[in-house]
Amino acid sequence: MTSASTPGKLILCGEHAVVYGQPAIALPLPDIRATALVEDAPAGSGITIVTPDVDQAWTIDDSAAPAHPLTTLVRLTLAQIQHAAADLEITLRSAIPIASGMGSGAALGAALVRALSTHLGAALTPATIAQLVYESERFYHGTPSGIDNTVVSYEQAIWFVRGVSKEQPPTIVPITIEQPFTLLIGDTGVRAPTHVTVGGVRERWQQKPEHYTALFATIGSLAQTIREQLAAGNLREVGLALNQNQAALEAIGVSSPELERLIAAARSAGALGAKLSGGGGGGVMVALVREPQQTAVAQALLEMGAVRVMQTVVTGSALLS
Ligand code: PMV
Repeated sequence: MTSASTPGKLILCGEHAVVYGQPAIALPLPDIRATALVEDAPAGSGITIVTPDVDQAWTIDDSAAPAHPLTTLVRLTLAQIQHAAADLEITLRSAIPIASGMGSGAALGAALVRALSTHLGAALTPATIAQLVYESERFYHGTPSGIDNTVVSYEQAIWFVRGVSKEQPPTIVPITIEQPFTLLIGDTGVRAPTHVTVGGVRERWQQKPEHYTALFATIGSLAQTIREQLAAGNLREVGLALNQNQAALEAIGVSSPELERLIAAARSAGALGAKLSGGGGGGVMVALVREPQQTAVAQALLEMGAVRVMQTVVTGSALLS
């Protein structure tokens, strides 16, 4: 029996623009995780995936197996480690809210690849795990930037720039955090699939390429500012740049009334800055808070309709391995 777990993730800044080559910063959420458990099954039974959270189970080799990223991922992993058929039961569980901008799909995928490859005696590196998860996501979601699969596979705070061509690997650099900081994550409870908001941005960009390209560049330069101010320990400046990033996300049409209600509440209760995080259209927002204001901000988010509020403390990251 082999198990592996991977964290959820949060995009601090740069979402959407990252699809168009701008930099973004993503953080792992160590306390909110997905897990995969791989066990040997009776000979001839094939590979079965069981997802108790949503009460589903299916066998991979069955021609009626659903077209699902996890099915694809099992096949990609077996091909990667050059392992032919096996008889296994893979149980997947997740505490990461689905379609909320917290990387639930990528985290489940990365946990599956890690547990499966380890169980079959060929443990894969974070880079290979990230790449396999990316391939399965690309198959179903069009044009993901690759940030989700990368941050959950490495489990480190990263600066991420996608490769300019499909073949070119992304730039992944650990970020320097001078002063640990606290983020509150408010969930609107509105499920908004990322491919829908990403598709909407693409249509609008095609109609007005110059306007959108300029907005993406603004978001990219704010990511640069946030990286520098995190390295310098200037949280007030980080907060201001997060607010400006939110304004640009509103301008590209991925915010929502529910998100803006929570963002305004967090700012009025004393957050240094607040913005949506991930695909937008619903899902989660993030607020940067100092200790004395933390309780008041969490309270304000709940009063303004957040279905849950999560907290994470972000500390400096080690070198990537
Ligand atoms: O909604 P999430 O958490 O999967 O984040 C998506 C981030 C985007 O930049 C909007 C899309 C992408 O592929 O990077």
